[in-house]
Amino acid sequence: MDMANSRELSDVDSQFYKAADAFFSERNGVALTYDDITLATLYSEIIPRDTQLATVLAEGLQLNIPAISADMDTVTEARMAIAMALNGGLGLIHYNMPGDRQLSEVSRVKNHVHGLIQDPIKVSPDEHIKDVLEMMEKRRFGFSTFPVVDAAGKLIGLLSGHVVKPRYARRKVAEALTPRDQVHTINVKDLGANPIARADKFFTDHPGIHKLLVVDKDDRLAGLFTMSDVERITQERGAQFKPARDANFRLICGAAVSATRNAFGELDRKSILAHVGELVERGIDVVAVSTAHGHTKGVGETVRTIREAFPKLPIIAGNVTSAAGVEFLAGCGANAIKVGQGPGSICTTRVVAGVGIPQMTALYVCSRAAAARGVSIIADGGITKSGDIVKALTLSQAVICGGMFAGCPESPGQVLEINGKLYKQYRGMGSLAAMKAGSAARYGHSNDDTSRKLAAEGVEALKEAASPVDQVLTQLIGGIQSGMGYLGAANLQQLREKARYIQVSPAGMREAGTHDIVEIKTGTSNGAQLGSF
Ligand code: XMP
Repeated sequence: MDMANSRELSDVDSQFYKAADAFFSERNGVALTYDDITLATLYSEIIPRDTQLATVLAEGLQLNIPAISADMDTVTEARMAIAMALNGGLGLIHYNMPGDRQLSEVSRVKNHVHGLIQDPIKVSPDEHIKDVLEMMEKRRFGFSTFPVVDAAGKLIGLLSGHVVKPRYARRKVAEALTPRDQVHTINVKDLGANPIARADKFFTDHPGIHKLLVVDKDDRLAGLFTMSDVERITQERGAQFKPARDANFRLICGAAVSATRNAFGELDRKSILAHVGELVERGIDVVAVSTAHGHTKGVGETVRTIREAFPKLPIIAGNVTSAAGVEFLAGCGANAIKVGQGPGSICTTRVVAGVGIPQMTALYVCSRAAAARGVSIIADGGITKSGDIVKALTLSQAVICGGMFAGCPESPGQVLEINGKLYKQYRGMGSLAAMKAGSAARYGHSNDDTSRKLAAEGVEALKEAASPVDQVLTQLIGGIQSGMGYLGAANLQQLREKARYIQVSPAGMREAGTHDIVEIKTGTSNGAQLGSF
């Protein structure tokens, strides 16, 4: 124990609050999860808001916050991946869709220019103002200025909100628009490395103009900046956690790939490599070979095949819950290993198959092998609150969450209203519906085998509709930083080094939640103010 730690824990404390090796070794016959343990507080000079959350998953793959959205078809497509990367994390685009659609989802993330509306709502010169008013009413737009383009997408003018009024309903858009030569535009190639700064300067230089249209070399509409978006983003610049970007200033993005088999049941190397090659061309930052059982010949061969063809591409692989599983996947070339079998909120693997290990024990066992092999591990599934993330990060480099993000507006799917409450669909990738949609390979079944009943290892569910991802993440990050403040950890490495554990009794678990009160407001502490020092 070093000098710093000797100040943090007295000899008495050390008898009760144990470092990971001692704690888990003493409990080597029992599997523990997040709620089974708690972390001891330690002497601290760390103010939560000053803690650093950057984490490295592989060479060339750094996140500014240790949070990843799950590669599930009700969680991560382009919109979620954009939101995660803008907040400093990572989204893994699921693979329950045709390969070419997954490629275009990746392109949407990689080509996302923050603040630039890349596909603005347009109107045509032949429409009437009445049609525009009806469209606004139907689609509930909160804005009323629209670019006007011809059939080829060429910019003809701008329909200003001043003329989108019932008084002009019978007029044609062509009569009411501001003509092309009076509309402010910028060529896409002149946006430069920092498009927001460019747009910001434009609005300063042109008082009273609130829209800047972007055109390509043929004068086709390529996007739209609005002053209010640009102002909001400029204000957010002071945010502590910067977006996660690649070396070319593009948002980072991951994509899941499966260990696909051909008609003869052999690993389909050709199609896997062709698809990964196309993902790499689109600028993918990491691929995730995602299966329920990663310690298998097929997953190992898939990882090895990708590693040989793309020596520098970061690879996440999983899932495992054993040290041998981590060693195996690391040996095949994976950089980061997903740990978790059955903890997920929609998972029934433990019930159906009778296997899987509660997360804290699984993470500890896997972390031993990961440290020895120099790979990182990612805690996947079972996170229901920020405290779980703090506990997970004492043994891992990042967490993957499905359920925490499934209710956000950025997840795929519609909001459903049931008895006056709003919900979004959330389903396991091993649920029957998801497997039929393509994910059967992940659970070792074949999706073209419709004659046989697939054994589901997940359920279809609903999540209450939640706030946007950045608000959910603000809460989670506040909690993580609060936990780090209690442990005196300035960064995630110190959190891993300093953590001291103790098991909690069932009564201790009850004590941890709110109790013996009538709750009138659900607590959403962001943990940003931790005492004074
Ligand atoms: P949470 O708890 O965040 O879990 O909702 C998300 C993780 O659960 C895994 N997953 C499944 N596991 N059956 C399983 O046993 C399933 O149908 C299933 N679908 C997803 C996956 O690791 C995900 O990241």
